Amino acid sequence: MTSALFEIQDLHARPVDTEENSGTNLDILRGVDLVILEGELHALMGPNGSGKSTLANVLMGHPGYEVTRGKILFRGEDITGLAPDERGRLGIFLGFQYPQEIPGVKVLNFMQTALSRRKGIDLSLLEIRLSLMEKMAMLEMDQSFMDRHLNEGFSGGEKKRNEILQMALLEPDLAVLDETDSGLDVDALRIVGSGIRSIRESKPAMSALVITHYRRILEYLEPDRVHVLVAGRIVESGGPGLADRVDSQGFDAFRQGAGAGASGGRT
Ligand SMILES: Nc1ncnc2c1ncn2[C@@H]1O[C@H](COP(=O)(O)OP(=O)(O)O)[C@@H](O)[C@H]1O
Ligand SMILES: [Mg+2]
Repeated sequence: MTSALFEIQDLHARPVDTEENSGTNLDILRGVDLVILEGELHALMGPNGSGKSTLANVLMGHPGYEVTRGKILFRGEDITGLAPDERGRLGIFLGFQYPQEIPGVKVLNFMQTALSRRKGIDLSLLEIRLSLMEKMAMLEMDQSFMDRHLNEGFSGGEKKRNEILQMALLEPDLAVLDETDSGLDVDALRIVGSGIRSIRESKPAMSALVITHYRRILEYLEPDRVHVLVAGRIVESGGPGLADRVDSQGFDAFRQGAGAGASGGRT
């Protein structure tokens, strides 16, 4: 039997209460179910505001959200209550839709710390530099990026490549990539798409959840399963052909039956 690496069961989640929104919060995720087997790549597609980034953040344990029902299992273990760094140590990686700038921290040093914290591997700066060089070549990134401050002054495409560079270094067991393809031009899309593919080839057991609006990046990634998220629920799952249907029919065709839902009015 192939084992489920990752399982989401009836997941409901909402932003945590703050003084301003106290009592007005409704669930954004309204019953998400998903099973990813070892080595599988799943695509999650959905319109703006459907809850894709919320799901990515909740999977990573973002403190700004609370799970109101359901659970998240990783290798059969309930990780719903774990802190983000604990999830990172288990081998879960999130590539952010909007990577944060960290002024004063060089890419090189950041990567060294990330590798040490996530995997307990302590490499010297020289070893990190050597390891990154080869990965940067694959992503067609200039070596000078290593000595720049993390994401500071990076273009949108450079930030996304840097997320994939991080993933290449950390070799996670599960990578959740939130719109890594958005904001990329066609050349950058090809580089990032083939980069993700070669990371998978070098580590076939790695699983991935690739969140995207568009079919384009999936042409490089050949997903095993495609899911459509509308108003906080997966309304349809299927093979790669589902991405073609999204592309030709748009998301409107999937909205019927999704219900206006509790997430309405939060856009
Ligand atoms: N921290 C938050 N506080 C209030 N509303 C939020 C928060 N995070 C997400 N939302 C709302 O939840 C909905 C889904 O957002 P998001 O998950 O970013 O969608 P997507 O990534 O699919 O475009 C949106 O209406 C958004 O405004
Ligand atoms: Mg998003």
